[in-house]
Amino acid sequence: ASESDLWRPGFHFAPPQGWINDPNGLVYHEGVYHLFFQYNPYNPFWEDIEWGHATSEDLFEWTYHGVKLPFDEENNIGKFSGGGTVDTQNTAGFGEDALILSYTGAHLNESIQDQRIAYSTDNGKTVTAYADNPVVDTNDPEFRDPNVFWYEPNEHWIMVVSRAADGDDNGDERPAGIEFYSSEDHIDWTYESTFTIDEYEDVVAEIETNNGVYNDTVDLWECPDLFELPVEGTDETKWVLTVSVQGDPHVDHLIGEFDGHEFTMEDRELADYGYDYFAAMSWDNEPNDCRIQIGWAAHWPYMDFIPETGWRGIMSVPRNVALEGEESDIRLREYPAEKLVDLRQDKLADVSKEMVTSCRDPLEDTNANGRSLEIIMTIDPHSADTVGLRVREGENDQSVITYYTDKNQLEFDRLESSVDGPADGFYDPGQEDTTTMPLELREDGTIQLRVLVDRSSVEIFGNGGRRVMTNQIFPDWDSTGMSLFADKGAARVEDMVVYDLASQPL
Ligand code: FRU
Repeated sequence: ASESDLWRPGFHFAPPQGWINDPNGLVYHEGVYHLFFQYNPYNPFWEDIEWGHATSEDLFEWTYHGVKLPFDEENNIGKFSGGGTVDTQNTAGFGEDALILSYTGAHLNESIQDQRIAYSTDNGKTVTAYADNPVVDTNDPEFRDPNVFWYEPNEHWIMVVSRAADGDDNGDERPAGIEFYSSEDHIDWTYESTFTIDEYEDVVAEIETNNGVYNDTVDLWECPDLFELPVEGTDETKWVLTVSVQGDPHVDHLIGEFDGHEFTMEDRELADYGYDYFAAMSWDNEPNDCRIQIGWAAHWPYMDFIPETGWRGIMSVPRNVALEGEESDIRLREYPAEKLVDLRQDKLADVSKEMVTSCRDPLEDTNANGRSLEIIMTIDPHSADTVGLRVREGENDQSVITYYTDKNQLEFDRLESSVDGPADGFYDPGQEDTTTMPLELREDGTIQLRVLVDRSSVEIFGNGGRRVMTNQIFPDWDSTGMSLFADKGAARVEDMVVYDLASQPL
C-alpha cells in the first residue's frame, strides 16, 4: 500500500484491480485455504461476474491466482456464488480428493439461474466445469448460491441453495426460502425440503430474542451456509444456518436442528451490527475442526459510490464461529481466526490501570498510531457517561467508537471517517452515519473490545466476540492518530495494548 492506493488493506483480502463481492468456494485442502470470490477484474463495479481465486496457508496472507471460472461471453452466463468441498471418496468420479465447486449459472439473456459444478484434481490450479451442467435446474429466475457439505450420518452430500423468490417449477409452486437437496455422487440431486421465509417469520414472532432489536425485514435470502457446532461447555451440538438478508442487507445466524432432510429453527442472531458484512460463508474441511467464516466487508446499497483507486471491495477478517450457553439461551461468539496474532509487529502501547477523563488521555505518552492496528482493551466506564476511542484520526477526519453507559451500547460513528468527499449515499455530510450494538457490562463491571483497524475498515469484537460490528472507512493517508476520551466523569482503562499489524505483501 502507498499514498496513491491509500485504502488498500494491510491485512484484509482485496483484488489487485476491479471489483469483488461474495467469498466463494471456501475449502481447505492439503495445506491450503482456498478463497474464490465474485469478481470483475476489469472495472471497479459489478459486471460480467466470474470467479477469481486466491490461496493462503494462514488465512491472512493471500496469493492471488487470477480467474478460475470465467464469464461465459458466448452464452452470456455469469458465474454466481457457491461453495466448495473435497470429494475424499471420489463419489463423483472426478478423481480422489478432487475439489468440487458449486456455483450458479446466471443466464443473463433468459433470466434463468441454475446450479452447476466444477472440479479440480490439482488442488485448485486448474478448474474444469462439469460437462453435463446444470446439475439442478428448475427453470426459475431467482434460484442461487448452492453450498454443499458431506452429511456423515446418512453418507450423503447436502446442498443448501436459496430460492430467492417464489418459483414456479413447471407448475409446482416453490416458496421462497432455503432449499435442501441430497445426493450420493454430488451430481444427481434430490429435492428434500424448504425452510421458508414464512416459517422463519412464524418462529421469529414466537421467540423472545435477547439480541437487541434489529431490522427484521426479509426481502430475500442469499448465500446460505449450514454447519453443526458443539455448544461449548455442554455435550450438545446445534446447527447454524447462516443467511444473507437482502432488503436492509445483513447476515443472520439461524440456530436450530438439521436431520439430513429438514432444518428447524429455534433462535436467531445477528452476525454483525455494522453496515459492512455480507455473504458470509465458511471453510469446508477445516483441518482444526474450527468453523471459520469470512464475509464481504461491504454493503450493496452504496458499493457503486464508495471512493476507489481502481478496485472496490474487501473481505472481512476470517472469523471463528462458536456457540455457548444453555438450551434456552444459546449464543454465538465470533472472533478473529487464530493466526492474526502472527501479524503482530511492534507493541505501540501498553497501558494499565489508568484513568481517562476529558482532560487526561493515557495514550498521549505512547506510540499508539498507525493505519493497520490491533487494539485490545478492557475498560471500566466507572463514573463516565461515555468513554471511547478515536482511530484513524487526522486533521480532517476521524472514526469514533463510543460506549454509552446508560444504554449499554457501543456506537461507531463514521460521519467524519472519509476525506475524499462524501459520495452519494455514503458519508453524507450532516447525516447520521453511525451503527450501534448492545454491549452489556460484564460481571466485573467492564467491557472488553478487540478492534481491528485497517486502511479502509474497522472491525470491533465486543466482550470476546459476543457482538461484532464491521464498517468501511475512507480516511486520509496521514490520519494515523489514536486517542482515548471520556465524558462527564472518569473511566478506567484496566488494560490496553496496541499492536502494529504486518502489511499484506503486494
Ligand atoms: C450476494 C449475491 C448472490 C449472487 C452474487 C452475484 O451478494 O447477490 O446472491 O450469487 O451476489 O454476484
